Amino acid sequence: MNLLSTQLLIFLLLSITFTISYATIIEVLNNCSYTIWAAATPGGGRQVNPYQTWTINFKPNTPQTGRIWARTKCKFDSNGRGSCETGDCNGLLHCQSSGASPNTLVVYSLNQINNTDFFGLSLGDGFNLPVDFVPSTTGLRGIRCSADIVGLCPSVLQVPGGCNSPCTTFKNETYCCGSGKCEPTLYSKFFKDNCPDAYSYHLDQDLANPFTYPSGTNYKIVFCPSRPTNIANPPTFEIRNECPYTVWAAAVPGGGQQLKSGQSWTISVTAGTAGARIWGRTNCNFDGSGRGRCETGDCGGLLSCQGFGQPPNTLAEYALNQFSGVDFYDLSLVDGFNIPMDFSPTGGCRGIRCSADINGQCPNLLRAPGGCNNPCTVFKTNEYCCTNGQGSCGPTKFSKFFKERCPDAYSYPQDDASSTVTCPGGGYYRVVFCP
Ligand SMILES: *[C@@H]1O[C@H](CO)[C@@H](O)[C@H](O)[C@H]1NC(C)=O
Ligand SMILES: *[C@@H]1O[C@H](CO)[C@@H](O)[C@H](O)[C@H]1NC(C)=O
Ligand SMILES: *[C@@H]1O[C@H](CO)[C@@H](O)[C@H](O)[C@H]1NC(C)=O
Repeated sequence: MNLLSTQLLIFLLLSITFTISYATIIEVLNNCSYTIWAAATPGGGRQVNPYQTWTINFKPNTPQTGRIWARTKCKFDSNGRGSCETGDCNGLLHCQSSGASPNTLVVYSLNQINNTDFFGLSLGDGFNLPVDFVPSTTGLRGIRCSADIVGLCPSVLQVPGGCNSPCTTFKNETYCCGSGKCEPTLYSKFFKDNCPDAYSYHLDQDLANPFTYPSGTNYKIVFCPSRPTNIANPPTFEIRNECPYTVWAAAVPGGGQQLKSGQSWTISVTAGTAGARIWGRTNCNFDGSGRGRCETGDCGGLLSCQGFGQPPNTLAEYALNQFSGVDFYDLSLVDGFNIPMDFSPTGGCRGIRCSADINGQCPNLLRAPGGCNNPCTVFKTNEYCCTNGQGSCGPTKFSKFFKERCPDAYSYPQDDASSTVTCPGGGYYRVVFCP
């Protein structure tokens, strides 16, 4: 081999090594049990069946900025035209532009200065699917948003298939940061609490504090990654106060906690817990040792409840892992009403809600400070209390008042047929005051 060809060989080897070490592969894995339509700009888009992977190759050593997300419930014709429930990009299978909200978004800039790749996960366009971003080199930290944000989504942001960003919903400066000067909001905090790795509001979207990796790293994006086991096991209840006023949440088992507007409290219970209740108390005063009193829902004057509350109080009731492993849950007005409530399991089972203005419309005879009493508390007769047991009482004009306003909820003690809901033991529930 002459000198020239040796030099050429070395040059070729060097450039191959150079090339290989700066090429990037991003694999998009659909770990959901249903089909998704992955989307990338640049890159286009593809239907990805459950547990299949779409591999996107990037030109070596070339700066490249883009975004990757997933679309759900799409229908496309043979020309690749159609639409998706979430993440739709102008009706094209092969995306040329960004996706419609909501969509959980991976943003990146590859091969930037100092041979660095920048990645970020953004909820600035809302959330449709949980995602895990994993660099292939061991030891590098990934980015993850695996919370069930759709299940936990504040009602005002809920849309089919996802949880909208507040900017999409309210379209104003507070949430969209057009001026570039804005603060986190109650809603951005909701996203941040559940997915601390992700950008939570609009201003944040432009890779303000990205995760950095050496260029040449390969990456995997997993939609519907495994959930951390502590979310579903032990069974967990997230109790959130969306009322404009303070509520003292109570749970038996669980205790109690003051929740200012926007705050939440998460409790875990043992599997198989039954006969359990969660409710809200209003106008409470407690001293430093947790003793005091509430206008509604008071439990023997304790901040941390050991026993049930005093009517009137709207109740969320549950019994977990009953026969066939099924959870039973309901909202009940059998102890009257004090606060509108929503009680929802995450993961697709039916949520139940009682958000009517029952206090405002309460019949005079049932009115109580801070709430609307149940007739049993007021009249103490068998007709209303069903003390004689099975089959001895039916709906009354008062129970009908409650039922008409909150058809999902128990309106008298034997109102089981329309009021109990079941879910395959899911283990993660959300209770919202003033949904
Ligand atoms: C690039 O790396 C050098 C040396 O580590 C550092 O001083 C410089 O700040 C880096 N530049 C950027 C833009 O990160
Ligand atoms: C944006 O809309 C929300 C909800 O309607 C409102 O509370 C907020 O004050 C609005 N902000 C601006 C700047 O108008
Ligand atoms: C895919 O989901 C299953 C649960 O459905 C989980 O056990 C598995 O770890 C997930 N795979 C990845 C790569 O996250």
